Amino acid sequence: MIQSEHQRRAYLEALGVDVWLPRGRAEPEPEFVDAKAVPADLGWSGLRDTVAGCTRCPLHKSRTQTVFGVGNPDADWMIIGEAPGAEEDRRGEPFVGRAGKLLDEMLRAVGQTRDSAFIANILKCRPPNNRDPKPEESSECRGYLERQLELVQPRIILAVGRIAAQLLLDTDAPVGRLRGSRHQLGDTPLVVTYHPAYLLRSPSQKRKAWDDLCLAARIVAEPRA
Ligand code: URA
Repeated sequence: MIQSEHQRRAYLEALGVDVWLPRGRAEPEPEFVDAKAVPADLGWSGLRDTVAGCTRCPLHKSRTQTVFGVGNPDADWMIIGEAPGAEEDRRGEPFVGRAGKLLDEMLRAVGQTRDSAFIANILKCRPPNNRDPKPEESSECRGYLERQLELVQPRIILAVGRIAAQLLLDTDAPVGRLRGSRHQLGDTPLVVTYHPAYLLRSPSQKRKAWDDLCLAARIVAEPRA
């Protein structure tokens, strides 16, 4: 995936990595004015308030509300989707539409619920007409997700769908190639599976999604390193 220098720097800063520029080289133009990393000591309530008031990208103008994420702050399973849709934007909760009902069933199949897992999205605001997130939107929002991951410290990340998988793994490989194996995001194992909205359209792929869930469950059952 092509990332601008600005995006790369925003991402490194969000991870707390100091970025050094060679002397004499001009700073690249920021694409948004307020592209700051999320403070590394921000707790849940500070993070929630920061997200609720976020104006880092133009999506704040069209949202009804931000969609922070729901679930157990100590979850073993962290589910990461793409972005809120219309229903999520109205209700302030991720995965509450038809796809969300299927996600609930997928979680139930591995002994989880939306209260025992933590469910979040790459973007905290709905893109108009449910279009794909723009690279600059996901890079501005990335620090919030990184901080959520640091706070939850899940045993497994389940990336649902192409957008989440590609952005988290920094690749443009298709889901069909990414699913079915174990990846890492830093120290945390990550498994990719199909988005429940896709599974609603292509139920014959549910068998593969089940295999992915079983792989994730096996990883969660491993003794902690
Ligand atoms: N699709 C997503 O990826 N996330 C949601 O919250 C809803 C639908």
